[in-house]
Amino acid sequence: MAILVTGGAGFIGSHTCVELQNAGYEVVVLDNLCNSSEKALDRVKAITGKDVSFYKGDILDRDILNQIFKEQKIESCIHFAGLKAVGESVQKPWEYYYNNISGTLTLVDVMRENGCKNIIFSSSATVYGDPAQIPITEECPKGQCTNPYGWTKSMLEQVLSDIQKADSEWNVILLRYFNPIGAHKSGTMGENPNGIPNNLMPYVTQVAVGKLKELGVFGDDYNTPDGTGVRDYIHVVDLAVGHVKALKKIEEKAGLCIYNLGTGHGYSVLDIVKNFEEANGVKIPYVIKGRRAGDIATCYCDPTKAERELGWRAQYGIREMCEDSWRWQKNNPNGYEE
Ligand code: NAD
Ligand code: UFG
Repeated sequence: MAILVTGGAGFIGSHTCVELQNAGYEVVVLDNLCNSSEKALDRVKAITGKDVSFYKGDILDRDILNQIFKEQKIESCIHFAGLKAVGESVQKPWEYYYNNISGTLTLVDVMRENGCKNIIFSSSATVYGDPAQIPITEECPKGQCTNPYGWTKSMLEQVLSDIQKADSEWNVILLRYFNPIGAHKSGTMGENPNGIPNNLMPYVTQVAVGKLKELGVFGDDYNTPDGTGVRDYIHVVDLAVGHVKALKKIEEKAGLCIYNLGTGHGYSVLDIVKNFEEANGVKIPYVIKGRRAGDIATCYCDPTKAERELGWRAQYGIREMCEDSWRWQKNNPNGYEE
């Protein structure tokens, strides 16, 4: 039996393929490569010594989905495929709703037609909006999202929950990721953003490698210890392992489950700069800028539900996240491009 990993060539998906193979699962990837490179899958194979069955195609394409279910024995799906750039989603809402929502509706329809009713969905801390409580537990009410990307996650959580409620044969696990950073220890796999990075850590590593001049810190007047935004950064390998644990839960008939995947620790933007400099001996020049629209002051989780029910807990700390992000960037200044 195999696991279908949609978006498996992407940042989190490729790291999850490694952990799945290490745990003995057979991996089938469907990715249209709109935000990734097939080379990531070559790196997966180089690390694990195992083959990945790769289908280049779209989750909106019923034919390729049916072909996969015909050719492979798919037991469960880990569904990463989606567009994820917050700012772009404000400019192109239709593209985001169509790709993420219609894509997921197509995927789950073909899954059920083929008798596969197990799905793990990549959700996000963004569904909490400006969180009603810190640290955020799964009971914390969902909030108002500030952009179409966030709404696709919030809406898809509802869609998948309703599908599970209507048909108890479905097992649906919604994983709400906090802020994934870091990279595989080998330095051969990591985050590979197109153009100028939107997220903090890839921006920092590109400053470190000399591709960008300085970091802009978006606001130092938040109600946080140093005034800059606080987030729950989690090592991407820890996040990947969380998916393997979630699969075990699915195998025990999970029904509908929701888990926060974070470390439970909050670090400010300036904490990240300081930790990165100390871990790697590289200076990160920065300037304070105005606040970025839609940002919140503080976001970190209470991860105890995942520990209690999945036996999962993040193993890596901020130093390893900084070291591993840097090793990847330093060894691959242009990501997967030569
Ligand atoms: P990523 O862009 O690296 O990976 C997503 C992958 O999906 C890419 O390889 C892309 O080519 C593929 N894809 C997109 N649309 C597709 C389609 N229609 N058909 C087939 N493939 C398609 O992003 P990531 O950081 O690895 O994120 C993975 C998932 O986790 C996404 O759903 C994202 O929204 C979610 N998530 C990410 C973060 C984060 O900060 N990275 C936080 C919370 C949630
Ligand atoms: N920041 C800067 N300068 C930058 C980039 C970011 O100061 O150049 C700051 C932000 O203002 C924020 C913090 O660094 O305080 C983290 O910002 P990111 O853009 O890295 O991450 P966000 O918390 O804004 O959002 C990310 C993903 C969302 C996801 C969310 C929760 O982009 O899609 O984490 O998982 F929903």
